[in-house]
Amino acid sequence: MEQTCTCRRRQLGNAINSLATWISSCVTILNITCQNRFSQLIVLCLLTICLEIDYDRSSQEIKRLSFTGEISLPFILEGIVTTLNRDGSINIAPMGPIVELGHDELRNEELEHKTEIRRFLFRPFQDSQTCRNLLATKQGVFHLSDDVLLFARAITKQLTGEELPLTPAKTIEGKIISNACQWHEFRIVSCNTDSIRAELEAEVLHQGGRGCFLGFNRAKNAIIETAILATRLHLLEKDFLQQELERFRTIIEKTGGDRECEAFGLLTNFISAYREDES
Ligand SMILES: Cc1cc2nc3c(=O)[nH]c(=O)nc-3n(C[C@H](O)[C@H](O)[C@H](O)COP(=O)(O)O)c2cc1C
Repeated sequence: MEQTCTCRRRQLGNAINSLATWISSCVTILNITCQNRFSQLIVLCLLTICLEIDYDRSSQEIKRLSFTGEISLPFILEGIVTTLNRDGSINIAPMGPIVELGHDELRNEELEHKTEIRRFLFRPFQDSQTCRNLLATKQGVFHLSDDVLLFARAITKQLTGEELPLTPAKTIEGKIISNACQWHEFRIVSCNTDSIRAELEAEVLHQGGRGCFLGFNRAKNAIIETAILATRLHLLEKDFLQQELERFRTIIEKTGGDRECEAFGLLTNFISAYREDES
C-alpha cells in the first residue's frame, strides 16, 4: 500500500515537472520567437505535440524500469555488489538496484510460493568503480545482508576483500561474500550510458545464501540512511546533515547493538574527515 502511494507520488511528481518545464519553455520560446498571435498559436501547437511525446516517453520509461510492462512500482533493494577490477582484485560497494521478482509455485504444504529475484536494473554513477567494472566485465554478484557494518565498511573504503569470507562464484567470474544472507550471480544483458547514472540491466544466473536474515531494526535502517548521507556529502547542507546525524544517533543508541554502534562510529568519523578536508 505504502509502495503504491510512493509510486503514485513519484508519477505525480514527474507529471508536475513535465508541466512546469512545458509552461516555462512555452513562455520563453513565445517571448523570443513570436511577434504576432498567429505565429504564437502555431508554436503553442508544436510545443503541445512535444509535450505529448515527452509524456509518452516518460511513461515508457516507467514501464521499462518496472520491467513488467505495467505502470507499476519500481522497487529498490539495498545490497552489496562485488565486481572484479581489471587486475583481478575484488571491488565491494553498496548498490540499490531496481528488482524484478518472480513467484515460483512450490509443491510444499507449508510454503505456497517462493519469491525470488529474476532481474536487476543497476543504476551506478559512471564515476564509480562498480560501474566501470560492470561495463568492462558484464558480470557481478549482488548480496543481501543484515550486517550493516558491512555497508559502513564498504562506504568508508575499509574493505579489500581479505577480511571477508569469499568463495568463487559458480556461473560467472566473480566472488561471493559467503556469510551474506543471500547472493545473486548476474550478468549484464543491456547497458545504457547516456546519462550520468548508467542503466545496466542484469539477469540472475544463480542464487544461493545462508538464509540468516535476522529481522528489521530501526538502528540498522538508520545506518543505511547514514551510509547514504556519507556518499552525498558534496550535495548536503551542513545543518541538515547535522540534524539527520543527531536523529540517527538517538535511534541507534536506543535500538542498536555493538555492530550498529561501530558502523555509526565509522561513518561519522568518515563524515568529519570529509568536512575537515573541506574547510
Ligand atoms: C544503501 C546504499 C545504496 C546505494 N546505491 C547506489 C546506487 O544505486 N548507485 C550508485 O552509483 N551508488 C550507490 N550508492 C553509493 C555507492 O555505494 C558509493 O558511491 C560507493 O562509494 C561506490 O563505490 P565504488 O566506486 O567502489 O563502486 C549506494 C550507497 C548505499 C549506502
